[in-house]
Amino acid sequence: MSLVQNDAARLIVKNHLDQIEAPPSSLTETQKREKMQQIAELLKEHDATIIAHYYCDPEIQELAEATGGFVSDSLAMARFGRDAPQKKLIVAGVKFMGETAKILSPEKTVLMPTLEATCSLDLGCPIDQFSEFCDAHPDHTVVVYANTSAAVKARADWVVTSSCAVEIIDHLDSLGQKIIWAPDQHLGRYIQNKVGAEMLLWDGSCIVHEEFRARGIEQMKALYPEAAVLVHPESPTDVIEMADAVGSTSQLIHAAKTLPHEQLIVATDRGIFYKMRQAAPNKQIIEAPTRGAGATCRSCAHCPWMAMNSLDAIIDSLTSSDLSLHEILVDADLIPLAKKPLDKMLEFTASMKGV
Ligand code: 13P
Ligand code: SF4
Repeated sequence: MSLVQNDAARLIVKNHLDQIEAPPSSLTETQKREKMQQIAELLKEHDATIIAHYYCDPEIQELAEATGGFVSDSLAMARFGRDAPQKKLIVAGVKFMGETAKILSPEKTVLMPTLEATCSLDLGCPIDQFSEFCDAHPDHTVVVYANTSAAVKARADWVVTSSCAVEIIDHLDSLGQKIIWAPDQHLGRYIQNKVGAEMLLWDGSCIVHEEFRARGIEQMKALYPEAAVLVHPESPTDVIEMADAVGSTSQLIHAAKTLPHEQLIVATDRGIFYKMRQAAPNKQIIEAPTRGAGATCRSCAHCPWMAMNSLDAIIDSLTSSDLSLHEILVDADLIPLAKKPLDKMLEFTASMKGV
């Protein structure tokens, strides 16, 4: 297994992070309820539905469900968007999720609370460099994580999410195929260790998950020796090695419910706790420690881009006369090319249990 170094891509991620402003101050309960009511009416008026990720703040998840929308992981969000009968989809998550919805349903209007909400994995895999890398290894099957741009997806043979990455690469390995994997190096290593496939890895990483530390989790385990450790596979290898359950956000929520442990140390974005607490109401859920705290950590277990999905931003997406700040547009030439590997994933996973 070898890893490609991309200093230029790292700089792109750093520059984006430096530009993120602090989230707006929180609303009172009454203000929240009023805004939710306003959004519910706007959704009806616009024939629109909200599709939200588990990392969005609790009020966004609550709103999505209360208005007949959906909250889930990136794979199920893609399916829900494809099958939704509404003309407009409001995708509360990050840009690649909005683009996936648009690629799968070009006839629908796909809006996001803000187009600024991106992802360090997407940013860290620019199409020109990635294409060069693929061209240099023409005998490899190109598998990319859903956390990529439409252009990167269009260059790929397969798209996967963390719900199905292991199974799809296992399938390709059984066919004797060598793999180019991008962009998340930690997820790539995890898959490689599980499947034993021959993989060339891009060196991207998630700024939220790369901050979890095995040492911090060891210290937590000393305090809570009976606790199970639940880890998203975008975390570093030594953190994954400590896990009782590794999986996508939906798989971690399922594990929280089904594991016999009464205490759970969870290494992923804390947005997930809203649903995890509903799934396992009698268990103690403990946030895994990150490298820094307060001003010294860049994410503190909450994705700064997911945090941009506020109630006000959703209202703006449904009322603004300037849709350029909200509407997801994907180049018409890219749509059929990016749809092909996404359709392959959706077809493959249709027969998989529990995803
Ligand atoms: P899931 O597919 O597990 O929801 O993950 C998406 C993501 O961005 C995790 O950081
Ligand atoms: Fe991207 Fe990480 Fe945020 Fe998920 S949590 S959207 S992988 S930066």
